Amino acid sequence: MEKRIETERLILRPLTENDVNDVFEWAGDPIVNKYMPYPVHKSPVTVQEWIRTINPENNEFGFVLKENGKVIGSGNIRPESETQYTVGYNINRAYWGKGYATEAASAMIRWAHDTLGIQEFTAQHATANTASGNVLRKCGFQIDHYGQYSRYDGSETFDATFLKMHID
Ligand SMILES: CC(C)(COP(=O)(O)OP(=O)(O)OC[C@H]1O[C@@H](n2cnc3c(N)ncnc32)[C@H](O)[C@@H]1OP(=O)(O)O)[C@@H](O)C(=O)NCCC(=O)NCCS
Repeated sequence: MEKRIETERLILRPLTENDVNDVFEWAGDPIVNKYMPYPVHKSPVTVQEWIRTINPENNEFGFVLKENGKVIGSGNIRPESETQYTVGYNINRAYWGKGYATEAASAMIRWAHDTLGIQEFTAQHATANTASGNVLRKCGFQIDHYGQYSRYDGSETFDATFLKMHID
């Protein structure tokens, strides 16, 4: 199965170790990391290790700007069960507010539906992270329930909104 998705402005394809410096621009940014459960990357070395150990089953895609080849974000559409997948994404702060997350997330969902036959999708965001809530609503998600999640190191707990979507 080919992991390459083309949208109007982006190519989505697996990250490679050549992408380390572009990825570090957001993976090392504490503002982008604010609501992430995992810690901010302190150097490109740990980003490289992360890219090297990505589980292909998680369908992680780098978001590449067609106009100049720069990787401006990444995301994934990964299984929660055989029939239900969940979506996530991060965008380099310099590229926020231009519709890229919505374009990439919708495309990953469409890909999972059309190539893998997935019909049930979930997503979650810190309730305070309204930008992500807007992305998910524009993708077609609806609120399912409210809850919480914590950073892996236990340092912070966020009120969270859990969403779902069915596509025939
Ligand atoms: C959430 C995030 C991915 C959104 O990316 P984006 O490419 O800016 O999103 P889009 O441009 O598609 O627009 C989504 C919303 O962003 C918000 N937005 C618009 N301009 C913005 C700006 N200048 N700065 C921040 N957010 C802005 C708006 O709420 C917009 O919704 P609207 O168009 O209905 O008003 C990005 O802010 C990010 O990487 N945040 C940190 C990581 C994160 O939170 N990931 C998701 C975890 S659930």
